Amino acid sequence: METLIPTINRLQEVFLTVGAEVIQLPQIVVVGSQSSGKSSVLESLVGRDFLPRGTGIVTRRPLVLQLVNVAPLQERQKIENGTFRCVKAEEWGTFLHCKNQVQLTADFQDIRREIEAETERNLGDNKGISPEPIYLKIFSPKVLNLTLVDLPGITKVPVGDQPEDIEAQVQEMILSFISNPNCLILTVSPANSDLATSDALKLAREVDTDGRRTLLVVSKLDLMDAGTDALEVLLGRVIPVRLGIIGVVNRSQHDINTQKSLVDSTRDEQAFLQRHYPSLASRAGSRYLAKTLSRLLMHHIRDCLPQLKTRVTVLTAQYQARLNGYGQPVEDHSATLLQIVTKFASDYCNTIEGTARYIQTSELC
Ligand code: GDP
Ligand code: NA
Ligand code: MG
Repeated sequence: METLIPTINRLQEVFLTVGAEVIQLPQIVVVGSQSSGKSSVLESLVGRDFLPRGTGIVTRRPLVLQLVNVAPLQERQKIENGTFRCVKAEEWGTFLHCKNQVQLTADFQDIRREIEAETERNLGDNKGISPEPIYLKIFSPKVLNLTLVDLPGITKVPVGDQPEDIEAQVQEMILSFISNPNCLILTVSPANSDLATSDALKLAREVDTDGRRTLLVVSKLDLMDAGTDALEVLLGRVIPVRLGIIGVVNRSQHDINTQKSLVDSTRDEQAFLQRHYPSLASRAGSRYLAKTLSRLLMHHIRDCLPQLKTRVTVLTAQYQARLNGYGQPVEDHSATLLQIVTKFASDYCNTIEGTARYIQTSELC
């Protein structure tokens, strides 16, 4: 994702200069059954540990995660000293529900705890769910300006405080996000369950009939029964997915309990893929998933460019017309502009001078 950052920043500048709307990158929404590994996949994309994960229903409200690209610390301190604000952290997060007092949370463990606390404040601790999102912004020099959405998993049987129609409620919640045509649907299906019955893919198809914005992540490759492997699935021979099928190995519950780092996890994932899927290793894994998403985002930007070009052409025509309105049809437009500015400036100066003289004389009187 990091190679995209400078490109996007430069383009956003161009868009701002010509007064066009900034490029709206697609939202990336994860969809899958409960405990399929959605939160784990999102975490590996962001490259930080900050999401509650675990067995059973952990994600109980949508989390709308807005990544905001900021300048590195050095530069930022300079700017912010000027405005009497100094942020020490290189990366930090803020929650919308923390009202005006912008809560700076530089520690990502604190971010996870706050997501958990806010979920419980709103819902209690007995597995209830709510469609009301938690809004979190993460500021970092290492992220793209991008919105990711983590959702509760698809579930069939109500437990705890869950209503009888939990399945319908979760589906409705998911559909409300993925029906947005500017959203990439990241379906997550575990390798140890039958892909043909994937509710995530079924839901995605409902809103994305020709599969132009659906990607399939096959998680838990390490948990398949001995003697079976996911090769057929990963090659798209079981169910084809237009944008691609990418196998990953996230951290297991044991890894989470023993606080295995993302770096170690990615390294072990790569080793696993080399051992078990040598022919596919270069087209699988969390890093490849991130690259694929970058490529899809690039395509999206490329698709936005004709619109930007049109905007520039329209603006040029408008200024041309205004220029013509000034009367003198001259070839060199910058000269015309200069003339106008110079005339204005000298008129202005004369007025000021006149006023100053007037004040002086009246004071003398
Ligand atoms: P979610 O409910 O879909 O958000 O899933 P989580 O990301 O919370 O993961 C659910 C559980 O599955 C956690 O205990 C994870 O550690 C575990 N898990 C997720 N992905 C994998 C994987 O690829 N391999 C293994 N072994 N465990 C995984
Ligand atoms: Na879970
Ligand atoms: Mg989750």
